[in-house]
Amino acid sequence: MSLDLQSLEKIPRHVALIMDGNGRWAQQRGLSRIEGHKEGAQSVRAVLRAAAQAGVEFITVYAFSTENWKRPPAEIDGLMKLLVHSLNEYEQELHDNNIRLRVMGQFEKLPLPVRMRLQKTIDATAHYTDHTFVIALSYGSRMEIANAAKQIAEKVKAGEMKLKEIDEQTITDHLYLPDVPDPELMIRTSGELRLSNFLLWQLSYAEFYITNDYWPDFREEQFFHALEAFNGRDRRYGGVKKK
Ligand code: FPP
Repeated sequence: MSLDLQSLEKIPRHVALIMDGNGRWAQQRGLSRIEGHKEGAQSVRAVLRAAAQAGVEFITVYAFSTENWKRPPAEIDGLMKLLVHSLNEYEQELHDNNIRLRVMGQFEKLPLPVRMRLQKTIDATAHYTDHTFVIALSYGSRMEIANAAKQIAEKVKAGEMKLKEIDEQTITDHLYLPDVPDPELMIRTSGELRLSNFLLWQLSYAEFYITNDYWPDFREEQFFHALEAFNGRDRRYGGVKKK
């Protein structure tokens, strides 16, 4: 590793990642798209390891969006199978590094064997407190916010909440994982400058790090570079620079 982690003054508590470019990585090599996703799953593992080493508490990866259901059925099926396979592969690492698995998104839309496999690891790691690995699956941020609005409206209608009590925290409290702090750093691979309906509310003050690397090429070293870049940023949250 080329970077001395000790030299970093601040480590983000939560890093969110848009894992883009698996398809292009595969295409460049004349491989199938699913081969790209398979190599991408190894990058997820590398990032989990690097994050644990650096002391990042929360990692959220965008593995499957609500829009991804529009992909060819064979690719969707391949991704779901890969998810199950990856969980089998990572599980021991989650235990070794005290990492809790959580999922955000339309859990009920996932195929039953995938839900069952996820639930097994969610339950088996629920007591870990050092790190949390969040997988966004069938996730869409606008839908998440719309669902929060619906839940809040229902509470107001039922007289459980007053209209004037609704504030920013009320919205946060009704998102999928209200107890997970907002990401301070968002990494997107393959050079795209878009949020793609990912954590729109939670990323309000996050620093963005965009790299041209395709996701399968994003490993420990690339993750540490992103942490280094984050260290060089001056975060003011709309305030003025401290002297
Ligand atoms: C985007 O690349 C990637 C995805 C839609 C899937 C990401 C999934 C994994 C890395 C699989 C493993 C995940 C876990 C959590 C084990 P793309 O297909 O849009 O690439 P392209 O833009 O080059 O076509």
